[in-house]
Parts: sequence; C-alpha cells; structure tokens
Amino acid sequence: MNLTLRIWRQKNAQTPGQFVEYNLPDVSADMSFLEMLDVLNQDLIKRGEDPVAFDSDCREGICGMCGLVINGTAHGPLAATTTCQLHMRHFRDGDHLTIEPWRAKSFPVIKDLVVDRNSFDRIIAAGGFVSVSTGEAPEANSIPVPKPDQDRAMDAAACIGCGACVAACKNASAMLFVAAKVSHLNLLPQGKVEKDRRVVNLVKAMDDEGFGNCTVMGSCEAVCPKEISLDFISRMNRDYLKALLRVK
Ligand code: SF4
Ligand code: FES
Repeated sequence: MNLTLRIWRQKNAQTPGQFVEYNLPDVSADMSFLEMLDVLNQDLIKRGEDPVAFDSDCREGICGMCGLVINGTAHGPLAATTTCQLHMRHFRDGDHLTIEPWRAKSFPVIKDLVVDRNSFDRIIAAGGFVSVSTGEAPEANSIPVPKPDQDRAMDAAACIGCGACVAACKNASAMLFVAAKVSHLNLLPQGKVEKDRRVVNLVKAMDDEGFGNCTVMGSCEAVCPKEISLDFISRMNRDYLKALLRVK
C-alpha cells in the first residue's frame, strides 16, 4: 500500500517543531507500525536526511516505551493495543496518517516523537514499591491472599507506564497511571504497611509534576492498551481520603 505520512519533526525541546510530509510506497500489510517507520528511516538515511526519532524497546506490548498519537488517537485506532503491536493491515492503501508525540507539559519533547517520561519514574520513586526485610525468601503460601484481591491487583499491575492515558486526557491527568500503581500494591497484604503513605506520596508527586486533575471523561480508559479500568481511580480516591484522615 502507498501511504502519506505527516510526521511531527522537532530538533529538541528548545526548537519549535512542525509537521513534515513523506510519501511511503510499497508498505506491506504484515509490517508493524514501527517497522513501517523503520523503512521510512532507512530511506531517509539513504537520502542523507535525519531519521525520525521514536521510542521502542520490547516491541511486544510489554515495556511501555512506544507511544505515538496516530490520527489523533494515542496508540492508534486499535483498542487495547500498543503502537508496537499495531499492524499495517489495519490501514488502507492511500491513507494519510498524522503521527505526533504525546502532548503534555509533563512529557516534554526530547526529539521528534520521543518525549521525556521521567516524571512517571519520579512518581514511582515516591512510593510505588514495597519495603521488605532482606533475607531468605519467605515460603510462597505463608501470606494467603484472597482470590478477588489477587485478580484486582493483577489487573492493576498490567499497567506498563506508557503514558497514553495522559496523552489522551484533555487535562493531561495521570490519575489512571497513578491509580493503577497505588491499587496494585495497596490491594496486597505485602503493600498494606505503607498503604496510607504510598497513596498520599504518589498523589503529591503527581501534582508536583504538573499533571492535571481528573474530570472522569474516560478518555484515558479508552486508549489504555492494558484496559486499566476507571474503577481504580475511584479506589485510589477512597484510599486517599481514608489515608488523609488517618495521617492527620
Ligand atoms: S494506565 Fe494504561 S495508558 Fe496509562 S500508563 Fe498505564 S498502561 Fe499506559
Ligand atoms: S515497544 Fe515495548 S510496549 Fe511497545
């Protein structure tokens, strides 16, 4: 298939960016979206032009590194799918594709389609962990966990930290990401000791990083490649209120 690509090019965070149009012929329907960009980059390098910078690592939908806004939708048109798992068979010959980076103040552009998501790392560092004493691993069944709690914690743990929820939100809110991280640990007995501190510290770190507030529009849930539910935001809000009462 032949495609027209309109790609955001930006030298660095200090330089204003712009869309540049490229025509890409003979795109195979079996290519992934990122392989299609690899082919474009090979052509650009052959012509002596600067290749398009974009992030990826696993290309298996598990690391959270990839993330492009494709025709206005974070991670593109296929639900519950990361950009790296999106294949060109979902597009048609002659399509025009607009490809942009995540747009959010807390995710500044590094170059072209690559954004700086260190703000997420700093949020995790504020409490997205469980403190354990060192020593031998405890016997696996020494702490029974009810099955419903296991399931909910696993659902929350599916978050790969890609940032699509922020990119899709008109307020650039990181509530879905933070709620997933809070619930993943707060639901488990191992995470209960630091439960109150965790939720208060993560929410504070989120606010300090400049992410916006949640107005429950659901655009985050709609684009999340791991189908993290808005219910986790309600759960986090409950945990947060209870923690504030207990901490004070
Ligand atoms: S909640 Fe979903 S969209 Fe947001 S960072 Fe996690 S996996 Fe990505
Ligand atoms: S490159 Fe790892 S999730 Fe896409």
